[in-house]
Amino acid sequence: MTPAPPVAGAQDRAPQVREMFEQLAPRYDLANRVLSLGLDQSWRRRAVAALGPLQGRVAVDLCAGTLDLTEHLLAGGAAQVHALDFSAKMLEVGRAKLPPDAPVTVATADARALPLDDNSVDAIICGFGLRNVPEVERAVAECARVLRPGGRLVVLDFFTPEGAVPRLLQASYNRLVVPVVGGLITGFGEAYRYLAGSIDAFCTRPAFVTLMGEAGFAAEGWEVFPPVASIVVGVRSPEVPHA
Ligand SMILES: C[S@@+](CC[C@H](N)C(=O)[O-])C[C@H]1O[C@@H](n2cnc3c(N)ncnc32)[C@H](O)[C@@H]1O
Repeated sequence: MTPAPPVAGAQDRAPQVREMFEQLAPRYDLANRVLSLGLDQSWRRRAVAALGPLQGRVAVDLCAGTLDLTEHLLAGGAAQVHALDFSAKMLEVGRAKLPPDAPVTVATADARALPLDDNSVDAIICGFGLRNVPEVERAVAECARVLRPGGRLVVLDFFTPEGAVPRLLQASYNRLVVPVVGGLITGFGEAYRYLAGSIDAFCTRPAFVTLMGEAGFAAEGWEVFPPVASIVVGVRSPEVPHA
């Protein structure tokens, strides 16, 4: 890994987001299981499968949090995983879940300035992270920079549904259930109000495909994991703009 350049920005909301995840870390996994009705790990498994064969590959778990996706990457045969997140406490909870000899590099990093060389990794997965990142296009451009040509990026998240009815159902669950249940489990209802709002404010799948295309990815499309999660998949093009 290489040292990452600092991430500037006077209006940057990232410090508040990081502080929030530092507080949520001890009970984050439990809140996920309850709020997803036990489905979140199956979404992660399916998202990792969309990266294709991982044997002998170097993979990045971006916005890795408590390393659930890292565990799935290792189970899928990845030879090396870089687990990156800007919350040291989330990573600490995750590190404790792995065997000491797991081939995982755990490092604090901002998604907008990755401490990795150009063309140095084979696959990147980001689960439920990018909607928290200001200037998400910078993070996607960083993915394009560090991925080798032909490498895959899979983004697993709660994208805003295209249809009015699913959008209403998702927004209702986010506003009425998520802050209450998340608050009861973690003691931080306000944090779950923010997270629910970040879901409502996130882009649609077609918009994310466009964003990926502008960063240098050929979009492979998306897949919905009912009822609310989905992945968008891109393959890093040989020529990356702005690299
Ligand atoms: C909702 S959690 C998802 C964690 C994990 N990927 C999962 O599947 O559960 C979002 C994570 O993104 C991290 N994050 C948010 N903004 C970030 C940024 N700008 N750079 C790096 N990590 C960030 C947070 O610290 C948090 O751990």
